[in-house]
Formats: sequence, C-alpha cells, structure tokens
Amino acid sequence: MTRMPHRRHAAGFVVAACLLALAACSGQEYPNTTFTANSDLNVAVNALWDRFLFMATIVFIVVESLLIFTVVRFRAKPGAPMPKQIHGNHKLEIVWTLIPVLILIPLAVPTVKTIFKTQAEAPAGSLQVEVYGHQWWWEFRYPQYGVTTANELYLPTGKTVNFTLRTVDVLHSFWTPGLGGKRDLITNKTNHLWYTPNADLAEQVFNGFCTEYCGSSHANMRLRVYTVKPENFESWAAHQKDAADGSPALVAAQKTADSLAKKAPVKAAIVPAPAPVMNAGYVFPADKLKPHNIPRTPIPAKITFDDALLANGSAVAGHDLVTNIANIGKAPCLTCHVIKGEGAMLNLSDNNAKGPNLTHVGTRHTFAGGLFPSNPSNLARWIKNAQVMKPGATMNTFGIGEYSPMMKAKVTAGLSDKEIADIVAYLMTLK
Ligand code: CUA
Repeated sequence: MTRMPHRRHAAGFVVAACLLALAACSGQEYPNTTFTANSDLNVAVNALWDRFLFMATIVFIVVESLLIFTVVRFRAKPGAPMPKQIHGNHKLEIVWTLIPVLILIPLAVPTVKTIFKTQAEAPAGSLQVEVYGHQWWWEFRYPQYGVTTANELYLPTGKTVNFTLRTVDVLHSFWTPGLGGKRDLITNKTNHLWYTPNADLAEQVFNGFCTEYCGSSHANMRLRVYTVKPENFESWAAHQKDAADGSPALVAAQKTADSLAKKAPVKAAIVPAPAPVMNAGYVFPADKLKPHNIPRTPIPAKITFDDALLANGSAVAGHDLVTNIANIGKAPCLTCHVIKGEGAMLNLSDNNAKGPNLTHVGTRHTFAGGLFPSNPSNLARWIKNAQVMKPGATMNTFGIGEYSPMMKAKVTAGLSDKEIADIVAYLMTLK
C-alpha cells in the first residue's frame, strides 16, 4: 500500500513524457530544422538518417527483447541450478560477430555512396559563391556577377550553388540547416560545399549560423539566405554589381547632366532630361520575412540617441562626411568599408577591407552579422558605439563622449548625434 504513491508518480511521469514526445509532432513550425527536403543535399542526408533510424529501431527491439527475456527467464531463484555457461563457445562468438557485420553492410554502402556524391565536385555551370568568414560576420562574393555583399545571401531556386569557403581569421563554420551544410571555414585552406535549393522555394528565408566557436561574438555571427526566382536573382545581381543609384554623388551627377541638357539648344530642351534611375533591382520583400527571421537582439540601454534627429538627417551632408577626404579623421568609414563609386583615392578593395561592403547596405534587412534589423535607429546606435552593441566588434566607437571598451577610453574626437543622423541618411540611400 505504501508503494502506491510511487507508482502513481511513475505513471504520471510516463504520461508526461509521452505528451512531451507527442508535442514534438504538433503542426508547429521548426524553422531551423534540418529535417526538410528543401535541397538535394538535405534529401540525401535525410534518406541516410531515415535508413539508420529504421535499422536502429529493429536492432533496439530485438536486443531489448532478448535482454528482457534473459533477465526474466534466468533470474536467480532460491535453489535453482547454475544456468548453462557459454564462455569460450567459438561457434556463438563467430555468429555474434557476423550479425553486426551483416547489419553494418546495408548501412555502410549508402553512407559511402552519399559521401562520394555530396563531396564530389559541384556540377559544371553552378552558381559560384565565395564565402569569407570574419570575426563576426559573413562576406559573400559572386565572382560571376562582380557582386560583394554581407550577411544576406541571395540564391536562385532550382540552381546548384557551389560555395567556396574561406576564413580571413579564425575557424568558422557555415550552416544553413534548412538547406544543408554544415562545413568548416579553415585557416589557410579552401573548403567546398554545394547544394541545389528546390525549385519551389521562391521567396523563402532560411536562418544560418556560425557553428564553430570563434570568439566572443560567435553566437552573433548569423546569416539569412533568401531563395528567390531565377529572374529576381538576375535582377538583384545586375543592380548590386554597380554603385547605388540613390547615392548623392550619382544623383548630383544626374542633376548636372539634367541642367546641362536644359542649357543646351532648343532641340535638346524639348527632349525631356532623363530622370535619375532609382530602381534598386529586385530586393527581397520585407513582408516575406517570418518572425523567426527578424532579429530580436535587445539594444543596450546605455547607448542613447535622439531619434528625432533621424527624421532630418541630411544624406548630402552624410555623403560629404563619409566620402570627403578632408573628413577622413572624423569619419574614416572608407578605410574599412568599400562603397562602390566612392573613395577611389583610398585604394580599398574587397580583399583588404576589414568591414562589410556597404555599396548596397540600404537594401539589407539586417546588419552586424544578422544581429539587428536594419533601420535608421539601430544603425545610428551602431555607429555611435558598435562595441557596446556587439561584444568584440572591431568597428570603432564614434559617438563623442562614448566609452570605447576596446580603447578603454572615452571618445573625444568623434561624431555628434547630428552627424551620425546625416551618415545614416546617406547609408539609407545606398539601395
Ligand atoms: Cu564564426 Cu563562430
């Protein structure tokens, strides 16, 4: 009688465990699961998983049944004789060595086949993407298109993509669970990974992660993969390879061209001057981002910024701060960041730039290694004190009077909030 409560507890535990197990089968979304058939790589790996699970279940049932049978049948009873001993029985030992071999063959053959298939060279004609790991963000280059971007990867559906994986510093690992992976980025070595996102994945977003511990912001090294229709990919890439159309430099050049056209003889005056092209090419629509794709990193309360300034930020003044060599001491952005069409005198290229390429930063939905949603308010705080926004960030602290954890000092010569608002206004034109 005294044992009953224990039994009830045990029964309650079993019911709770079953309910928990069943909860995993509910229709809820598991956005970061690998158990999807979104790419040829995931299909191949999941087929192996299914086979292993099936075989392992049979082995488990057989072994556990024999174990339970043995325990019950041969348990010690008072006065019972010693059961028959089989130590040193060669026949039995050969049998129970051969059985695992026979079980392992149907597992080993498909495993080796899958390894050879997925480690082979990517099919000819694949889209080439060079992935560079940085502490702590991702650089993506499309050598066939002349495009360099950061943290957000556009992939056309139904086309094989061949990733060339390198790191500029320590080890990282590239993983987008919903599409396939993961593979390490190893110092002084080039790794490869390829897969084909399914043709029916248009306008989907997949979260990606760094999965090799790489320092203080390892957990803050994230990425997004946008799978888009091939024609949208072409539109995106065609625009991303050039300087941003919205940049004040280009708009100013267009204005000069327009006014020259107006001053020209009558014949030219009746031809309407071409309007500045403000088409940003295809950009992944923000309303297609699901809640799990939008970062929710808290903004540190100690970075204060008057958001009202952002409404009146001057892109022209911001452009001057960033690109005028006279301001390089105050806003040395172009010593670390490439903005195509700007800063030619600094001779900076993607190969020696320390920070993300900002040519089309205004088209990105996230920044800082996918850590924050890209909006003026967050960008302003980032410029003001990136080191407080993200542990270990190597970007300078620029806000006057801000404490820089890296320099262990307050910033005396830096940017005022007004100047930061101007720079943000300029960055937002880079579409
Ligand atoms: Cu990069 Cu962890």
